[in-house]
Amino acid sequence: MSEQLIQPSSRFLQTDDPKLDLLIRPGGHEKPLLFQESVNLGRPIIAREIEPWTDAGAHELLSDIMAAHEAGDITTIVRYKGKNPRRWLASIYPFAMDPRFVGLFFPDGTLLGWVSLTTSPYLPGKAVLGMVIRPPYRNAGLGTAALLHAKKYLRDIMKDKSITAIFFETQEQNARVLAIAKKMRVQNAGRRIDQVKGGIAMLAFSGDASMEA
Ligand SMILES: CC(C)(COP(=O)(O)OP(=O)(O)OC[C@H]1O[C@@H](n2cnc3c(N)ncnc32)[C@H](O)[C@@H]1OP(=O)(O)O)[C@@H](O)C(=O)NCCC(=O)NCCS
Repeated sequence: MSEQLIQPSSRFLQTDDPKLDLLIRPGGHEKPLLFQESVNLGRPIIAREIEPWTDAGAHELLSDIMAAHEAGDITTIVRYKGKNPRRWLASIYPFAMDPRFVGLFFPDGTLLGWVSLTTSPYLPGKAVLGMVIRPPYRNAGLGTAALLHAKKYLRDIMKDKSITAIFFETQEQNARVLAIAKKMRVQNAGRRIDQVKGGIAMLAFSGDASMEA
């Protein structure tokens, strides 16, 4: 694993330096998921599963997580400073959680944000969703659209028929997530107290056993 500082990359198209490529994971969506409706960014959005376990992939995700942490939107005990990205990412998303990531892109390969889907032995039959939309692309409906498509991601990527509900966890004071939850008439599935991070609200947004998108 590299000890060198990794320059941020915002493209998944091939670059001259293979270490900076953000790779599309083979075997994710059978077809790329393309949507434009309800997103006010002037261009279509492509959703593709991305490979997090490369230096470049882990770096992209960690950069967004650290920025959201510094902005006070999320809390993490991770202190990533550009070294050992895969090791830091695994400390947030252990392999036992079977983490999967869906990148949201412009057709030219610009990464706009991503959705994470994980499972937990403490939540049998459920997927936990996390999400970061990069600041320049916020408040344009992308986060809401990504949530609406999440069931599709789940079916395409996790391929786990035992999963019957999706939850997302958020800090209780995360006004933007709560605004989306309200808009989508999400049910509050209760509160999980995290001894390290403090109070966390846990919101359910799909209890549909069929998981039809
Ligand atoms: C939460 C997040 C994913 C939303 O993405 P987004 O693409 O901006 O979402 P949308 O544009 O679909 O919706 C945002 C809503 O928040 C509202 N909003 C924005 N700032 C707000 C604020 N300070 N207070 C209350 N609501 C706010 C917007 O008005 C919008 O609601 P509306 O469509 O009813 O007007 C994005 O802000 C983000 O990445 N935040 C940092 C990381 C994070 O908090 N992740 C969630 C952890 S589960």
